[in-house]
Amino acid sequence: MSTTRIAPSILSADFAKLADEVAMLEQAGADWIHVDVMDGRFVPNLTFGAKVIETLRRCTTLPLDVHMMVVEPERYFDDFVAAGATGLTIHAEVSPHLQRQLSRIRELGCAAGVALDPSTPLSAVEEVLADLDLLLVMSVNPGFSGQQFIPSSLDKVARARRMLDRARASAALQVDGGINRETIGDVWRAGADTFVAGNAVFGSPDPRAEVAALRARCAHLA
Ligand code: DX5
Ligand code: ZN
Repeated sequence: MSTTRIAPSILSADFAKLADEVAMLEQAGADWIHVDVMDGRFVPNLTFGAKVIETLRRCTTLPLDVHMMVVEPERYFDDFVAAGATGLTIHAEVSPHLQRQLSRIRELGCAAGVALDPSTPLSAVEEVLADLDLLLVMSVNPGFSGQQFIPSSLDKVARARRMLDRARASAALQVDGGINRETIGDVWRAGADTFVAGNAVFGSPDPRAEVAALRARCAHLA
């Protein structure tokens, strides 16, 4: 097993001091910054859009991993890429033309990802593995940070790992929702390589140490 990436979700940061929070994540050795865009339609919550992506881009050179929990995501591709997104992840549940949408993201020079809700089968991406740079297995129902990891996600991650390996697909396998010191080791063992963490990092009295602790939980099991 090679790369382990920790991607703290900026949604859980203190927005009154966003630049400081980003600097803290850099010092903590975060690999990516996960950016949760919610539209109040696909998910019952509203967050932010291109303006915040652009602000983050001015604060850091870290990859900005944008998780688009929005209907008709293609409406925002150009703006988000212009704002400085490194990767765009769209939800299979609201992307009827996945192959075209993923190709378009790559055409814009961005990494193309697909996210699957807990109830969405892996078969939803089986035909587009070659078009994928990232597969996101949601381990909570999207919409809010601070939710509990859904235990059945572990088996789904293991099956996703096998599916990618069988196809010799090089996509990152990301897990998002309820990742913390208690859950991350099992998810890593199941074959995920990229971990989103919101509450675990920003709810910690020492967020820097928390990033290291999450990473160590993976390394110690190696
Ligand atoms: C959920 C978001 C997650 C969330 C993670 O809808 O996509 O990225 O903010 O938060 P935690 O780690 O607190 O579950
Ligand atoms: Zn997310």
